[in-house]
Amino acid sequence: MHNQRMNIGILGSGGVAQTLAAGFLTHGHDVTLGTRHPDKLSEWGTKNPAARIGSFADAAASADVIVLKFFTSLDESSMERLQREFAAARFVKAFNSVGAAFMVNPRFAGGPPSMFICGNDEAAKNVARGLLDQFGWETVDLGTAEAARAIEPLCMLWCIPGFLRNEWSHAFKLLR
Ligand SMILES: NC(=O)c1ccc[n+]([C@@H]2O[C@H](COP(=O)([O-])OP(=O)(O)OC[C@H]3O[C@@H](n4cnc5c(N)ncnc54)[C@H](OP(=O)(O)O)[C@@H]3O)[C@@H](O)[C@H]2O)c1
Repeated sequence: MHNQRMNIGILGSGGVAQTLAAGFLTHGHDVTLGTRHPDKLSEWGTKNPAARIGSFADAAASADVIVLKFFTSLDESSMERLQREFAAARFVKAFNSVGAAFMVNPRFAGGPPSMFICGNDEAAKNVARGLLDQFGWETVDLGTAEAARAIEPLCMLWCIPGFLRNEWSHAFKLLR
């Protein structure tokens, strides 16, 4: 599974989408970025000719893995809301506890950082784990979708040193 070439659709085209897309391409996957405004990606597309750029529907159409980008509510995890609304989809929460600059091949003096994931489908989590392995993360599986209530606020914890001291170069690690 870890070396399998996958068709990855990314719903979004901002900084996170572009970083992850470049990482997936580096590891030999096929990537389609979905956006409402394909024109704004013309420069990025020139630098990344292997990527396809289309609508959200184009990106989702034949994807093995879809990368979603949504905001978090404090009252409930967006992961649970999505899973309830689209019961047949096999969501995995990942990549929300670190800045885009470190999502692919993070390098820290303290070794590989931990990426906390959760989701209700074991096979989908194994696919996510394989992609995280390729990107150099240590995956920590925290169980089913409810764990997103704890994982999603990590984005705030990650940002606080940035807002306090302009420090943005860190990641979390679970020590055992
Ligand atoms: N930046 C980070 O370091 C970081 C780290 C962890 C998590 N995140 C999360 O990742 C997500 C994306 O972050 P980003 O920094 O890449 O943001 P961004 O550069 O502002 O990109 C926002 C993306 O969201 C899409 N979008 C915005 N409003 C939309 C709407 N009403 N309907 C459909 N699509 C809409 C835009 O699509 P169009 O292309 O169609 O305009 C664009 O692709 C956010 O939820 C952020 O909280 C960011």
